[in-house]
Amino acid sequence: MPRQTHLFVMDPIGSVLVDKDSTFALMLEAQRRGHDVLYALGSDLHFREGRTYCLAQRATVQPVQGQHAQLSEPALIDVGDTDVVWMRKDPPFNMDYIFNTYLLDLAETGGRTLVVNKPSGLRDMNEKVWAMRFGDVIPESLVSQDMARIRAFVDRIGHAVVKPLDGNGGEGVFVVRRDDPNIGVIIETSTGHGRTKVLAQRYLPEAKQGDKRIILVDGEPVGGILRVPQGVDHRGNIHVGATVEKGELNDRDHEICAVIGPHLREHRQVFVGIDVIGGWLTEVNVTSPTGIHEVDAYYGISVAGLLHDAVAARLDAR
Ligand SMILES: Nc1ncnc2c1ncn2[C@@H]1O[C@H](COP(=O)(O)OP(=O)(O)O)[C@@H](O)[C@H]1O
Ligand SMILES: [Mg+2]
Repeated sequence: MPRQTHLFVMDPIGSVLVDKDSTFALMLEAQRRGHDVLYALGSDLHFREGRTYCLAQRATVQPVQGQHAQLSEPALIDVGDTDVVWMRKDPPFNMDYIFNTYLLDLAETGGRTLVVNKPSGLRDMNEKVWAMRFGDVIPESLVSQDMARIRAFVDRIGHAVVKPLDGNGGEGVFVVRRDDPNIGVIIETSTGHGRTKVLAQRYLPEAKQGDKRIILVDGEPVGGILRVPQGVDHRGNIHVGATVEKGELNDRDHEICAVIGPHLREHRQVFVGIDVIGGWLTEVNVTSPTGIHEVDAYYGISVAGLLHDAVAARLDAR
């Protein structure tokens, strides 16, 4: 098998934490398999005369913080000459992110390069809204910017969360009850006075026991972690202090994965993290899921190894 080139499009590698960062785990595994590891920033992707290019640096990586990446001088490469592109740029999911997915689509047209996750899926699968099509596994939900409609939804179900469609890390996630004196303010603030769509959703009391993040590799669940809210904060996000423990997968979790897994596979979303609260799917993260180190530790597996296996199988199947 000829030596493969794996290009990692990501945020600056200098600020990576070697024992936390999932992209870094994927780079280490690429190197371990004997692939050439290239590193580039999304901001340098460009397209000219039929080809997608970027300045890339060859990276030699080791799990030693501060000396974790030895980089060559930057050189202009044709992205379509690489075998695999790992699109691992973190949100914000903004127009620049979307423009990069267009250029990565073009890089695939030569027929050699496999981009994971597939750029069209990165664009289309909004982490909150894409899940809405799976009515049997999501909590009762409303996507709307109409303040009266949201108010009526909360009035009817009594206890809800209202959250932005493009948030992460728990930002902007409000809990609201029908008799909350702040209800009007919450709906005005979250919709920008009716200008932006939000997701209103039945409040799941099991959120107190934790928000389970399940990692799927090419549609198959491989493990999970449970993020447990701390103190009075209702949110199970590590960013706001939730603690992490092993997330065992139960029958319901497997059922949810069986519902969405084939769709993820079909859209070539190879590395995906879903959030499940009390047996209900609340979020599907495709853009730059994390959690490799934690799942490895709790399950005694190598998620990066499984991801590389899945990519290798896709290359072989061509
Ligand atoms: N339907 C819900 N019921 C109860 N709590 C919820 C619900 N949806 C979200 N939350 C709480 O808010 C947190 C963040 O919500 P989530 O939808 O995962 O958004 P984010 O993308 O910001 O992580 C969750 O960890 C959970 O604690
Ligand atoms: Mg979440």
